[in-house]
Amino acid sequence: MWRQSGPSSPGKMVTYDVKGISPDASFLEMIDVLNETLILNGDDPIAFDHDCREGICGMCSMVINGVAHGPEKATTTCQLHMRHFKDGDVIDVEPWRAAAFPVIKDLVVDRTAFDKIIQAGGYISAPTGTAPDAHATPVPKKDADAAFEAATCIACGACVAACPNGSSMLYTAAKITHLGLLPQGQPERDSRVIDMLQAQDDAGFGGCTNMGECAEVCPKGIPLSLIGRLNSDYRKAIAKR
Ligand code: SF4
Ligand code: FES
Repeated sequence: MWRQSGPSSPGKMVTYDVKGISPDASFLEMIDVLNETLILNGDDPIAFDHDCREGICGMCSMVINGVAHGPEKATTTCQLHMRHFKDGDVIDVEPWRAAAFPVIKDLVVDRTAFDKIIQAGGYISAPTGTAPDAHATPVPKKDADAAFEAATCIACGACVAACPNGSSMLYTAAKITHLGLLPQGQPERDSRVIDMLQAQDDAGFGGCTNMGECAEVCPKGIPLSLIGRLNSDYRKAIAKR
């Protein structure tokens, strides 16, 4: 387990013996049990991010045995269960490792860099007033489904942690696709892709070299093809300038 008392402290791996864990316990429940023992012994509990514990919020960020979110495909850490490990296994648990996600404490990293990308263009402009009828703006079913698929990105950051370049392209591509497929997202479509990519670079994320590690660990199955879509949007937007 990675222990690091603060952003500028040197961290190190510490081994803990955890007993009495049900195979049906989630990975986070296992850490809860360990933390109860640590607290009872007067030790500092392990800091880790979590909220919903049902695969929605994207907070439970940790690298388990070298894989972001652990060994089960398409799963968040909170939905990973201990039955995927054998009794007596030694499990390495570390925080996301990426220049743009500095460690705050133990397994908690600062993901403000993701917010900066959203602030740069992850929105639409809509007039205020009475909400329009839901069917007033027709959206082809194919586009609605694809936009919905992209919108399932929970901003967990696993894609960044898995990328050898520390790139956030899959995350940014999901956000750009989500809005770019809908009529409401068209007015800012060009400025969005340019500004979000600039914000991504400014925040310290690395460049994408099509390694594909991001899509392998994404708990929501965001496909690599969305990065191609982003690049296409970017080229068109730049050409119009
Ligand atoms: S693209 Fe997937 S891995 Fe990346 S932040 Fe979104 S849900 Fe997480
Ligand atoms: S705690 Fe919310 S996705 Fe895991």
